[in-house]
Amino acid sequence: MKRIGMLTSGGDCQALNAAMRGVVKSLLNSGQDVEIYGFLNGYKGLIYGDFKMLTGKDFSGILTVGGTILGSSRTPFKTIKDPDENGLNKVEAMKQNYHKLQLDCLVILGGNGTHKTANLLRQEGLNVVTLPKTIDNDLYGTDMTFGFQSAVDIATDCIDCIHTTAASHGRIFIVEVMGHKVGYLTLNAGMAGGADIILIPEIPYDIDKIVDAVKQREKNGSKFTIIAVAEGAISKEDAKLSKKEYQKKLEKRKYPSVSYEVAAQILEKTGQEVRVTVPGHTQRGGSPCPYDRVFASRLGAEAGKLILAGEYGFMVGYRNREIVKVPLEDVAGKLKMLDPESTIIKEAKMLGISFGD
Ligand code: F6P
Repeated sequence: MKRIGMLTSGGDCQALNAAMRGVVKSLLNSGQDVEIYGFLNGYKGLIYGDFKMLTGKDFSGILTVGGTILGSSRTPFKTIKDPDENGLNKVEAMKQNYHKLQLDCLVILGGNGTHKTANLLRQEGLNVVTLPKTIDNDLYGTDMTFGFQSAVDIATDCIDCIHTTAASHGRIFIVEVMGHKVGYLTLNAGMAGGADIILIPEIPYDIDKIVDAVKQREKNGSKFTIIAVAEGAISKEDAKLSKKEYQKKLEKRKYPSVSYEVAAQILEKTGQEVRVTVPGHTQRGGSPCPYDRVFASRLGAEAGKLILAGEYGFMVGYRNREIVKVPLEDVAGKLKMLDPESTIIKEAKMLGISFGD
């Protein structure tokens, strides 16, 4: 008998259910008796002992369903060691619940913050296997996270729709794509949607270079311009500020986001109105795309294999087209960012895409 606790933590994404289904199916199909404790709403469920018992049937019919059957929430790592409002030691509470239920291991699905806490639990002696989820694809130790490709599809659809109306009206459009820290999603959706300018956090922009690119397109006879902007895009000037200084500046920013600021600056410098579209959380919603269904199922199956072998302390990742197990200590606390010198950026530039640099 294996007693498994499972939880999904952090911002949700597509294919969380597909991944959990993969874990459970692979265990059950091996003939292993399994008791599954589904902790609700992320680490909160583990802290407060809020769980439901699940069986194989609960994982049937969820391959194509977005969201997470367990619910999710953000439990910031930086305050995980602080007592809660009632003085409860959250780390101790998680350990106690784990031991009280006599769990063999925890299966934790999450992104960067989630992995820091998962690694802490490992250090505290709990058996942990994790799966890499996030639409941002910014998790260290894996070339790909599930949710990313589905989000690329949605953001691309958005740019495609904007393309036709931009062409009709001869306007400049900005589509703001999710990603506060990294630009994988914006780069991929931008390239797939034929964006003319792509702004990502890893390549700080110069507004004059953006305006030059818009003017150059006009000179070449193009009547419209599509700009894909990551939520975390940053100007060259702001990139020189310390984190604290930049945070203070953002608090005073009169625009709801960087896209609106860039739009106002383009208007000021060219006299042309710019429309902004923000697909926002739609990028995390809906059914996982076929790629993510397959990918998450494979990762889930491999997590099942690790559990059967009693190999704990790993994230199941994907590197160089192979599913691999990555030690949690190599993942936790590191961010995978786009390299401005990477071939994909060079190729995008060869296609004529401006990064405003
Ligand atoms: O981490 C995934 C993500 O969707 C980011 O792309 C985005 O910046 C952030 O979460 C939004 O967070 P929230 O759902 O808490 O608003």
